[in-house]
Amino acid sequence: MSKSICVAGGAGFLGSHLVGRLLNRPDVSKIVVVDNLWTGLVDNITQYNDPRIVFEHRDIETLPGAAMFDEVYHLASPASPPWYMADPARTISANVAGALRLLDLLKQGGRFCYTSSSEVYGDPKVTPQPESYLGSVDCTGPRAAYDEGKRCTEALLFNMKRTSGLDLRVVRPFNVYGPGTRPDDGRAVSNFISRALSCRPMTIHGSGLQTRSWGYVDDILDAFEQYFWLAGTDHPGPINIGNDEEISVLEVARYVSSLVPGSNLEFGDPVPQDPSNRRPDLSLARSILPNWKCGTNYLTGIVKTLDWFRLNTQTANVAFVDFQAGGRRAPSPQLAIATVP
Ligand SMILES: NC(=O)c1ccc[n+]([C@@H]2O[C@H](COP(=O)([O-])OP(=O)(O)OC[C@H]3O[C@@H](n4cnc5c(N)ncnc54)[C@H](O)[C@@H]3O)[C@@H](O)[C@H]2O)c1
Repeated sequence: MSKSICVAGGAGFLGSHLVGRLLNRPDVSKIVVVDNLWTGLVDNITQYNDPRIVFEHRDIETLPGAAMFDEVYHLASPASPPWYMADPARTISANVAGALRLLDLLKQGGRFCYTSSSEVYGDPKVTPQPESYLGSVDCTGPRAAYDEGKRCTEALLFNMKRTSGLDLRVVRPFNVYGPGTRPDDGRAVSNFISRALSCRPMTIHGSGLQTRSWGYVDDILDAFEQYFWLAGTDHPGPINIGNDEEISVLEVARYVSSLVPGSNLEFGDPVPQDPSNRRPDLSLARSILPNWKCGTNYLTGIVKTLDWFRLNTQTANVAFVDFQAGGRRAPSPQLAIATVP
């Protein structure tokens, strides 16, 4: 059967990798990518040059039409804290109102796939975090629009499954990095690399001892592909997807610095309510996806990401997003492109 698919947020980092995977499917006849280019880049989609892709430059909340897709993939939401902290209404709308609109666009019996987030666990009091951990989120805190937007969307979808039998797949990715991130994205790995390549200090917020589980994008997309359409599971999730090796932010920065001669680190104020640790319990993922593993360690993944940044991005005129600018985009520092040996 030829399938019509919608990828909301498909011009973003993960969405564009997902579109690449969907294009490998012979049963897919049309992929409508809906993206308002808030944090995405149109080049992420035009790179594929495939006639099955239709690009809709608009908010997912207002995509016109009625029940027309066999599968929808809802990735429309910034994932980088400085971006989502700067625009809470838009963040909640993208997740929650985006999901409501996509439910209307799904054909009867169609499949709904949603990228929630490890941020639903907030600043976790247990480690590693299993899916059954209910989380520790401050609904009045600076990250709440994102965290609660994810939680509310999960609530909507799981209750639609209960009441209407929605065919649902929900993943909770942990920190993902890799080629395809925009240089002004603001997340740790891409920020460190962009800054190092443009001869600016890499800023560590707080002590740098806060830990994350860094998942390389190809490994994460392997899990998405298997869970969303290959494995034949009917488990609705939520499923943690990530790397369960916990590495500190400082260690990552030092490693990037060792790869870029002349780069250096600086310490800045801690980010309010920055989680102290983040590590997935992958027991459920391993039982549902027995052939999957997050096999790329951070040493290898960061080298691949750095190589991609050197070849594909220009850091000149990039307005770096930084927590020190109050979660808003900092003015463009008019950067020079560094020539890195
Ligand atoms: N990358 C990660 O580490 C990570 C971790 C956990 C969860 N996630 C989730 O995965 C999804 C994708 O993350 P990403 O890293 O690719 O982020 P991203 O910011 O690169 O991509 C998000 C895309 O959604 C688009 N978008 C935002 N609001 C929209 C709207 N209202 N209508 C249409 N398009 C809209 C943006 O322009 C962008 O292209 C997000 O839902 C995010 O919460 C990502």
